[in-house]
Amino acid sequence: MPHATTSPISVHKIEPRHGSSFDFGAEIRGADLENITDIDAEVIINALYTNQVVLFKNQQNLSPKAQYELTRLFDPTATGYGHGKTLDAKRSILHPDLKTIPHQPQVQVIGNGFLEDFEGLKNITLKHPHHRTFHRDAISDEDDRENTRFYRWHIDAALYELEPPKVTSLLAVKVPKTEYQTLRYDDGTGDELKLSRGSTAFVSSYKMFGLLSDDDKEFARTTKVQYAPHPYIWMSGSKSRSDGLGLVSEGRELPTSQLPPIDPSKIKILPMCWKNPVTGELALQVHPSAVQALHLFDGTIIDDLAEVRDIVHRLQRPGIAPELVYAVDWEEGDMALFNNRGVLHTVTGSFKPEEVRVFRQCNMAASEGVVGPDE
Ligand SMILES: [Fe+2]
Repeated sequence: MPHATTSPISVHKIEPRHGSSFDFGAEIRGADLENITDIDAEVIINALYTNQVVLFKNQQNLSPKAQYELTRLFDPTATGYGHGKTLDAKRSILHPDLKTIPHQPQVQVIGNGFLEDFEGLKNITLKHPHHRTFHRDAISDEDDRENTRFYRWHIDAALYELEPPKVTSLLAVKVPKTEYQTLRYDDGTGDELKLSRGSTAFVSSYKMFGLLSDDDKEFARTTKVQYAPHPYIWMSGSKSRSDGLGLVSEGRELPTSQLPPIDPSKIKILPMCWKNPVTGELALQVHPSAVQALHLFDGTIIDDLAEVRDIVHRLQRPGIAPELVYAVDWEEGDMALFNNRGVLHTVTGSFKPEEVRVFRQCNMAASEGVVGPDE
């Protein structure tokens, strides 16, 4: 790394639009991401962990290699993609959404439409995930162009064998600009949100924790979450709640006999709260679709799936209220980095096949486990 004693970088908080009150997100200006000095790195790392989502504008010319290096600043010994090779499994629900860049395999291409040639990938067709493929009840065809849902609130993580990535980067390479959509929660609350088509929505899991009652905070601090083995295959027959925050319990998860071999030592049992490495704050950090059981402080294990999901949903739902959602209205060249251990995020929107949209995503399975509340 080049050496310098001062950094030209400045950090500017995102101002929520009228009616919103989310308290995270920042734009970082003045960074040369192809030539990051030690001191720049320090400023960027600090900005990320105090703002959770940071945005760099005009990065369309950044190479996949530089994107990889930027992402790796947060975990210099991490090297492999966050899902490892697990996405190769055709039955994984993530399989159709991601294409790997051959010369930089930690970087994936996601988006919509046909591309003749992109970073060595030839004649590929990308498909923006549509909620109708995942939600139990979809918005009607007639209302579909103007309305959307949160597709799936999640953490980027394999949640089996590999450690959850610390940071994910997302570069908007090509963004079709169309009209705003209304995002409907359709969960009986009447909640909705106006956002630009295809916005990525983020919520702060620190806020989510902060909103809990004292009893629930205590429960969250002392409970561990067990994830299903091969979770994205396990859940492949299941359907989501309309708010994208976890699955409906209809007994459609695959039985163990239909999963790849399970090594019990690779099953993830993680704290429900993860500590921010800079601020020390606790995030209520649960992947709501992949959760299988809860381990309480007294040794009780709750493994009734419907009950587990209801508990997690009750704890998480206040944190996705419309005013708390930061919906990134992408412009070409935007590079977002987010604290994957401190936010949940989701795709929104739907596109026609001819609306071409291209993003590059990068994250790495972490070199160390998450930090729980007592560590
Ligand atoms: Fe993601």
